Amino acid sequence: MRVWETVGLLALSLGLTHGATTCGPSYPLPLRMVYQFSKPTYLQCLYVRSNGDMLMGTVFPNASIYYLTGATTPTPHVSVIHTFAGIPSTDVINGVTGIVETEPNLFTFTGGIQQSLGLQVNGTWGVWQLDMRTNSTSLREIQHIPNSGLLSAIVALPQNPTVVLVADTSLGQILRVDTHAPAKWEVVLADWATMHYPPWASLQFGVNGLTIRGEYLYWTNSFVATIYRVRITEDGYAAPGARPEEVTWVRSLFVDGLVFGPEGNGDQTLWAATNADNRVLAISGEGKVTTVAGAPDEMTAAGVVAPRFGRLAGDEHTLYVASSGGIVLPVNGTEFEGGKVVAIDTRPWAACQ
Ligand SMILES: *[C@@H]1O[C@H](CO)[C@@H](O)[C@H](O)[C@H]1NC(C)=O
Ligand SMILES: *[C@@H]1O[C@H](CO)[C@@H](O)[C@H](O)[C@H]1NC(C)=O
Ligand SMILES: *[C@@H]1O[C@H](CO)[C@@H](O)[C@H](O)[C@H]1NC(C)=O
Ligand SMILES: *[C@@H]1O[C@H](CO)[C@@H](O)[C@H](O)[C@H]1NC(C)=O
Repeated sequence: MRVWETVGLLALSLGLTHGATTCGPSYPLPLRMVYQFSKPTYLQCLYVRSNGDMLMGTVFPNASIYYLTGATTPTPHVSVIHTFAGIPSTDVINGVTGIVETEPNLFTFTGGIQQSLGLQVNGTWGVWQLDMRTNSTSLREIQHIPNSGLLSAIVALPQNPTVVLVADTSLGQILRVDTHAPAKWEVVLADWATMHYPPWASLQFGVNGLTIRGEYLYWTNSFVATIYRVRITEDGYAAPGARPEEVTWVRSLFVDGLVFGPEGNGDQTLWAATNADNRVLAISGEGKVTTVAGAPDEMTAAGVVAPRFGRLAGDEHTLYVASSGGIVLPVNGTEFEGGKVVAIDTRPWAACQ
């Protein structure tokens, strides 16, 4: 045996070769509770501001918008920015489903009426704004969508954040709304095969979570448990000739919100919340799916809906997830809790990519 072969074998037996043989993060990734709301509270959306503060919107027991400060400290503080009178109601919205800061201190969100949790009243949904630019916070609907189903998510265009894309999960389409020209809204993508809910869906949830990375808009189709993408222009239209394509299918009953991150080392990784089966997934650039937190029979990530990365310097590796508490499909059939925000440390994952 020649010397270099001996060295090679020695390296192998000591686990010194580069790659997966030396790097195996253990799961779940380290995590901590940031804040838990009272039972029942279904958190449907989470937005992390550049200063680390967070906004959360709820769809049960009513539509409320909460503001959280101090997420990185041992004593986070939560206040109610606005609460709408709840179910039953026919003239006041009872769901806030997606929220994003489209201008400094000006938040754009999707909201509307559900006749029961997750079952929309058609034509009651729209795009709203929460204005925190002055001390007297105000709130109004800037664009009603007359023929809407349930608007489930919102994302701002990276190059033009006053324009948003909105998912209509029941109709299986994406709307584009220019918040500076509210009378201007249009359907920019509608693709039955990748956006419509499948025949076995118990609720009309098709295209659901949205995120934009590079030239692509990514979405989940919830009951198909599949992530898709399409190339878009900087202005939020499908790129000429672009066709929706499958990114990956995941083994789950359902898949909800999704996000890429963290910036830098691991930013090829897509993180997804499965909601109904209580897990947070990491999907590598090669399409390998790993459960990084939660399990179907655990409360750790019960009904997890919305993942978002920390934005404060030194906190960019933290994946914050907001949950429903498992109210729709209780863990083991009976267990649910108040929705919560949990912080997951993704550094062990990134170190192995
Ligand atoms: C909405 O629900 C929350 C949580 O239960 C409650 O604190 C709040 O008072 C409710 N809002 C209204 C307007 O009843
Ligand atoms: C709402 O619209 C959808 C899609 O057209 C339809 O399937 C559903 O039955 C409507 N819901 C109600 C309560 O009319
Ligand atoms: C807003 O409130 C703060 C603290 O109460 C006060 O110092 C500030 O002057 C107020 N600003 C305006 C524009 O009213
Ligand atoms: C669900 O049931 C399994 C099996 O009995 C048990 O191990 C697990 O702790 C239960 N989970 C909860 C949240 O009670």
